[in-house]
Amino acid sequence: MKIRNLKHHLRWENAWEEMRQERMGKPKVSYDDEFFKKSANDFSERIKLNDYEFGRKSTEMLDEIIDDNFEVLEIGTGPGTLTVPLAKKVKKITGIEFAERNIKNLKLNLKENNLLNVEIVNKKWEKIEDDKIMGKFDLVVCSHFLWQIKDVDELLKRMENASRRYCSIIQPCGRDELIKEIFEKISNQKYTGQFEPDADYFAYVILREWGRLVSVGYFDYTFERNLKEQVRNVAGFIGRFYEVDTVLEKKIKDYLLEISEDGIYREENKAAVMWWQPEK
Ligand SMILES: C[S@@+](CC[C@H](N)C(=O)[O-])C[C@H]1O[C@@H](n2cnc3c(N)ncnc32)[C@H](O)[C@@H]1O
Repeated sequence: MKIRNLKHHLRWENAWEEMRQERMGKPKVSYDDEFFKKSANDFSERIKLNDYEFGRKSTEMLDEIIDDNFEVLEIGTGPGTLTVPLAKKVKKITGIEFAERNIKNLKLNLKENNLLNVEIVNKKWEKIEDDKIMGKFDLVVCSHFLWQIKDVDELLKRMENASRRYCSIIQPCGRDELIKEIFEKISNQKYTGQFEPDADYFAYVILREWGRLVSVGYFDYTFERNLKEQVRNVAGFIGRFYEVDTVLEKKIKDYLLEISEDGIYREENKAAVMWWQPEK
């Protein structure tokens, strides 16, 4: 690497932008017109299959700071991965989410769990006015959300401003081996981390620079998918590099059939939970 490029990469803002572009590209998928709708439904089914394990374990870790009087702001709820288990433990959650498909599933999941204490705000986080949220929440949290944001420093500042007590970030660590294997098989190139979700360390470094004392815990979780769901899951990643047409879809499916005995694909992963108190 040339010295100039090395220097460019060493600035964390540049590293963040480069890594983000790699992770956030919209996949090109042409084998199924309903791919995105089905993927959003898979997302919702996947979190429910093991009774919200991801959100339950995150909530258990936050147990040492939360109580049933807490008012929480959650950014990027998705179908309710964290929202559903957390809403059972706190007074109220205000959940910000802009994707209609995920809001539809979130509403269904809240209803299924008889939860009436979640207010859904159908907006982009960037469009929320600061004076409407300033100092209003006991906990401001986002789960698997960091890469969605262009400016992570700004996200942390705004999270802190909205909180009167705690902030928290939950982020998966590492990607399923299977995705990496299929990528290498299809592309004939070495996997160099293009799909890794980890981003918590960027937040950690910034927060430590600001003098915050960050508590960090980790937990293990499992997601299960059937063959069709797993093909969509893989296509969502591979499609960022190669168009997944019917030929490539068959290639992915054949490979998946080869490696599963029972038609179920289990992804075992870890996630980091970070929490801290903003400066008073
Ligand atoms: C990777 S998903 C994570 C969902 C859920 N929190 C979880 O842990 O599974 C990110 C979610 O954030 C939403 N999102 C992305 N950018 C957003 C933004 N700027 N404002 C609000 N929601 C956003 C997406 O629609 C998606 O539902």
